[in-house]
Amino acid sequence: MPITIKSKREIELMTEAGRILANVHSELGKALKPGMSTLDIDRLGEELIRSYGCIPSFLNYNGYPASICVSVNEEVVHGIPRADRIIKEGDIVSLDAGVIYKGYQSDAARTHAIGEISKEAKELIRVTRESFFEGIKYAKAGNHLFDISKAIGNYAESRGYGVVRDLCGHGIGMNLHESPEIPNYEQGRKGVMLKEGMTLAIEPMINIGTWEVEWMDDEWTVKSKDRSLSAHYENTVLITDGDPKILSMIGE
Ligand code: MF3
Ligand code: CO
Repeated sequence: MPITIKSKREIELMTEAGRILANVHSELGKALKPGMSTLDIDRLGEELIRSYGCIPSFLNYNGYPASICVSVNEEVVHGIPRADRIIKEGDIVSLDAGVIYKGYQSDAARTHAIGEISKEAKELIRVTRESFFEGIKYAKAGNHLFDISKAIGNYAESRGYGVVRDLCGHGIGMNLHESPEIPNYEQGRKGVMLKEGMTLAIEPMINIGTWEVEWMDDEWTVKSKDRSLSAHYENTVLITDGDPKILSMIGE
């Protein structure tokens, strides 16, 4: 599939979708408390998304049964919310959410600390977020896609972390997943040239231990193979002729 270039009107709609999603994440982050179930988090997330007049894009996507992916500790991504999965002090919780606003999508993820967490867990969350910002230094028209991948991967790997290889970022627009696929590690080639008007969901998933992952029997939940802690950070980003615009972030 070709990579779509968004028009001015489409960019306006994706900007609004991103602004709403940033608010949803900020409100979800504030609401997280020990004792909540991952299903409570999903219910609140869906309510927030709908309160802004948006549709939760993950709900029923390829059969995914919820609106938010809630991945705890060694769960990397796509944790299915459950009433009997209770979060507690010391956990790290990755929330991944997508919204559709007037037909246009935004996708973003954050990893949160529940109360006091270990120094190792804090550092993992910091490096995962920072690897995204290293990557988007290269997200400029005229650069190449895998410049971003390499910058993310090298930043995290040089600090001893495992960069998940079995899942990637992606183009985004009217569809949640569009071309191109965006790996989070060096590809040994340049990839496509970035152009103004491309919108990309860039999403490093980083483990303290091995980069290898496993799928659970629910067919969604992905865990690190060695069960080490994992973090996720994602934003929807617009390529411009200058610095990229992070559509799904406000004042963080
Ligand atoms: N943000 C994830 C992604 O980009 C989650 C989507 S999977 C879903 O792939 F099925 F839960 F929607
Ligand atoms: Co995504």
